[in-house]
Amino acid sequence: MGSASGVIAIMADLLGFEAYGIEIDPELVEVARRLAERHGSDARFAAGSFVPSGYVWKSGTGDDRLGTLALGEPAYAELGCDLSYFDVVFAYPWDGEEPVLRDIMRRHGSAHATLLLHDPAARVEADRTRSR
Ligand SMILES: C[S@@+](CC[C@H](N)C(=O)[O-])C[C@H]1O[C@@H](n2cnc3c(N)ncnc32)[C@H](O)[C@@H]1O
Repeated sequence: MGSASGVIAIMADLLGFEAYGIEIDPELVEVARRLAERHGSDARFAAGSFVPSGYVWKSGTGDDRLGTLALGEPAYAELGCDLSYFDVVFAYPWDGEEPVLRDIMRRHGSAHATLLLHDPAARVEADRTRSR
């Protein structure tokens, strides 16, 4: 979710995962596609939003804006699958985006999926809330 230059998705593909990246910035998607080609990776990238259609964030504070998350058309149609297709979802969110990402996964992800969140202290947390 937010694959930027595609490094994580490309590494996942090279490790044997069927890997996809969704990125709102089309120029970064082009960078990611070129990087994948250069490294012989089959990782696929789509330009658009990882926020599923119809998703509404309820923060509990009354401020339901999505903060630093960019708004745009969901990219799942371009990928040909929705969020519930994925077993492992990785994100490196900006500060404050994390609760939204967890909520998106809870509501639209597979019950068996693992959400890997990389935080600014370079820790990666695996969230299996729904399957626990
Ligand atoms: C903190 S960067 C993480 C980049 C990369 N995943 C990494 O680990 O280095 C967040 C990325 O999410 C993208 N982004 C922000 N909102 C988005 C959205 N709604 N849908 C898709 N990508 C989004 C930004 O353009 C940015 O490239």
